[in-house]
Amino acid sequence: MRGHVRKALVLGAATVLAGTGVVAIAGTANAASTLGGAAAGKGRYFGTAVAANHLGEAAYASTLNTEFNSVTPENEMKWDALEGTRNSFTFGSADQIVSHAQGRGMKVRGHTLVWHSQLPGWVGGLAATDLRSAMNNHITKVMQHYQGKIHSWDVVNEAFQDGSSGARRSSPFQDKLGNGFIEEAFRTARAADSGAKLCYNDYNTDGVNAKSNAVYNMVKDFKQRGVPIDCVGFQSHFNSASPVPADYQQNLQRFADLGVDVQITELDIEGSGSTQAAAYSNVVRACLAVTRCTGITVWGVTDKYSWRSSGTPLLFDGNYNKKPAYDAVLSALGGTSGGGGGGGTGATCSVSYAKTDTWSDRYNGRVTVTAGSSAISSWSVNVTLTSPQKISSTWNGSPTWDSSGNVMTMKPNGNGNLSAGASTSFGFTVMTNGSPAAPAIGPCTASAS
Ligand code: XIL
Repeated sequence: MRGHVRKALVLGAATVLAGTGVVAIAGTANAASTLGGAAAGKGRYFGTAVAANHLGEAAYASTLNTEFNSVTPENEMKWDALEGTRNSFTFGSADQIVSHAQGRGMKVRGHTLVWHSQLPGWVGGLAATDLRSAMNNHITKVMQHYQGKIHSWDVVNEAFQDGSSGARRSSPFQDKLGNGFIEEAFRTARAADSGAKLCYNDYNTDGVNAKSNAVYNMVKDFKQRGVPIDCVGFQSHFNSASPVPADYQQNLQRFADLGVDVQITELDIEGSGSTQAAAYSNVVRACLAVTRCTGITVWGVTDKYSWRSSGTPLLFDGNYNKKPAYDAVLSALGGTSGGGGGGGTGATCSVSYAKTDTWSDRYNGRVTVTAGSSAISSWSVNVTLTSPQKISSTWNGSPTWDSSGNVMTMKPNGNGNLSAGASTSFGFTVMTNGSPAAPAIGPCTASAS
């Protein structure tokens, strides 16, 4: 204990900046007892779509903050929300979600830059030359506003038709600019923010079929010609008419084999009980089986605010109770529910994170671990980086890394005793390698002897 305080003072030398956004992160008894914590243990994120107008609801915010370590604004970053009038940008609601997430060490997915839907009328009225400059201006202004804050952007959403044609969907962009609009959007996006991963996102592409084949061929062509693309998003909206395909994992894998990450971006599965739970479990297991499947986002926190509310497709019911689907997801992620996983000691801890210094190529972070209402004898905290970031040094803790090199598990350097309510800190330097993203700080696991 004393030794830790002394070391924390050494660390203090690097923490000269006051008020750099220190934030408390809800702690839980076990790192693997939440969706985000368990996913982080597998080197992945577990996110949800979030609506800014629900953040003030206590149960919504606490479920979000406890369970998830990534967010996607459900509507707030769409073209109609951000640029309803040409070149006049309204970032307020989207900024609210981004700052909520950033203050809690959560990642943010940007959704979406170029899409035929939720597109203001003025865009469709432009002739080709004007439309091209409006598209590029929209991408550039939005991405620059959020530079350094977005883990992955859905650059183009839903550009292909359903069914067997494999053709592009009609839209102002397709109809006036032709197939090349997708490539142009990705090139503009890379120039606007080279630190964000650039994704193509679509639905009904979850299994091997004509539509996913068409997307696959586009991605393959982009990779061959050096058009910048880093990831493909699979929306994964399922119900009994459109169930989880049997070849879901195989389809994710064939895209990953093209040299892109794959992400499950809008997962929801209509149904209830064990049927729904089993389908969710299949999706999670498929992602875990594909090395480049880097994270899963469900399309909402609670059934009551789902865009398909009547199908009760999410993990928490309308009263924020965990559904069987929740337990299935947690267990598929290798987590354990109920708080019994910490050895049954009742030991808890919480963490807060602060960025303490920034240089052009790196930054320092500090995590403070605080014991809960009883003394603890040891603790463990996961720190998850955004590739290609690397940690170059740490202090006041004993780190180990997972095989991906993205997840550091920090434990006490020697004696981990903390009396009830007492704190200690550890620190680390993140080499950004082009990505200034904040690390995701997993929940704190405590044990008591
Ligand atoms: C949905 C939102 O959930 C609704 O609130 C909104 O009214 C319509 O859009 N594919 C997408 C998402 O990429 O943006 C859509 O989100 C769902 C389908």
